Amino acid sequence: MRTPVMDMFGLDSPIFGFSHCRDVVAAISRCGGMGTLGTSHFTADQLERELSWIDTHSDGRPYGVDVLFPYGSPKEYENLTPASLEKLLPQEHRDFVKNFLDKYKVPQFPEEQRQQILNEYMSDLTRTHREAERRLEVVYRHPQAKLIVSALGPPPRHVIDKSHELGRKVAGLVGHPKHAKRQVDLGIDVIVAQGWEAAGHTGEISTMVLVPQVVDIAGSVPVLAAGGIATGRQMAAGLALGAQGVWCGTIWLTTVESEVLPEIKKKLFEATSSDTLRSRYGTGKPARRISSPWVLAWEQPDAPKPLPMPLQSMLTNEPDERIKKFRVAELMTYAAGQCVGQLHEETTVKQVMQDLLTEFADARERLNQE
Ligand SMILES: Cc1cc2nc3c(=O)[nH]c(=O)nc-3n(C[C@H](O)[C@H](O)[C@H](O)COP(=O)(O)O)c2cc1C
Repeated sequence: MRTPVMDMFGLDSPIFGFSHCRDVVAAISRCGGMGTLGTSHFTADQLERELSWIDTHSDGRPYGVDVLFPYGSPKEYENLTPASLEKLLPQEHRDFVKNFLDKYKVPQFPEEQRQQILNEYMSDLTRTHREAERRLEVVYRHPQAKLIVSALGPPPRHVIDKSHELGRKVAGLVGHPKHAKRQVDLGIDVIVAQGWEAAGHTGEISTMVLVPQVVDIAGSVPVLAAGGIATGRQMAAGLALGAQGVWCGTIWLTTVESEVLPEIKKKLFEATSSDTLRSRYGTGKPARRISSPWVLAWEQPDAPKPLPMPLQSMLTNEPDERIKKFRVAELMTYAAGQCVGQLHEETTVKQVMQDLLTEFADARERLNQE
C-alpha cells in the first residue's frame, strides 16, 4: 500500500518514528521509514554532531527533526541569564524539591557541577521560539533533514516559508481539531494528530476520536496518526481513520538501539497500560510518562502548583540529572505512552518495523475477507 505522504519523502513504508536517540532515528530511516530526531535535549553544537552522525548512518535516506515552538511562549524569558532565571523559581518550590530529594537520600552534586548543569541546561533551553530558530539554522545545513516537525504549537510563518525555500517539508503536531485548522491555514505540509494516550506532551482527546476529525479539517494535507500505535493492527486502525501514515514514539524505547537506561527499560517492560500518567511535573505542560514517586509527589494535595514553561523544567532538570547520575531507580521516570503495556521484550528497530508491516498486512487481509 502506498500513500501520498510516502511519495512526498520517497519512503518504503508509512512509518514515522520520533526519538531523542540518533541510532533509532538512523535505523528507522534505513529501514524505509522516516526517523525523526527530537532536538530538545541538545545544544546547537551537540545537534550539529548528532545530525552529522545521522547523515553518515542513514544510507542517504531522508530523516526529520522535531523542534519545540511552544504556543504563547513569553518573550520575556528569551534574554534572561541562568542566574536571573533561577531567581524566578519560588522558594516554596525549591523547598519542596529539596525536601523530597532529601527524603529519598538522593546525593547532591558539588556546587560547581550544579552550576555547570544549570548553565548547560540554559544554553540548551529550547522552550522559546528564538532557541527553536537557532536549532533550525543547524538543521538547514543538513540537506537529508527533509522534514521539520513543530511541537507544542505552530511554527511562525517565516519559518515555514524559509523551510520551503530550502526544500524542506514542515509538519505540526496537534492534539485538538482547532489546532489542526490553525496549522492548515499557516500552510503546513503534514499534520501529526496525536491522541492523549501518547508519550510526551498531549492534549485530552484520544487518537480514535481525534484522527478522523483532523483528517476532515486537513483536506488535502496528509495526516499521520499518533498515540497508542504499537502493533500492525493499531497501524491499520490509524489508516482506516483516514491517516496516511503513523507516527510512533513509545515503541522505540525498548529497542536495542534506544537511549534509555537499563533501569528505565526494566520499568517499561514491567509497566501495564495504567502505569503512565499525564503530569505537569517535568515542563509545566501536561506530558505522559511512566509513573514514579517523584512524579506522583507533584500530584499530592500539599505539592506546589507546577510552574509555567520554561520555569518548571529549570526546577526539575537538575534533580532529574541527580536521580539519573546516582541511579536512584525507584524515582526514575521517562516519557512513555499507554501502549507501553504492549511492550514485553527487547528487540531491534528493524524487527519492530517488520512486525508492524506484517501485522498491518494481515489486518488488511482479514478485513478484506470479512
Ligand atoms: C521519550 C519520548 C519523548 C518525547 N518527546 C517529544 C518531543 O520532545 N517532541 C515531540 O514532538 N514529541 C515528543 N514525544 C511524543 C512523540 O513525538 C509521539 O507523538 C508519541 O510518542 C506518539 O505516541 P506513542 O508514544 O503512543 O507512540 C516523545 C515521545 C517519547 C516516547
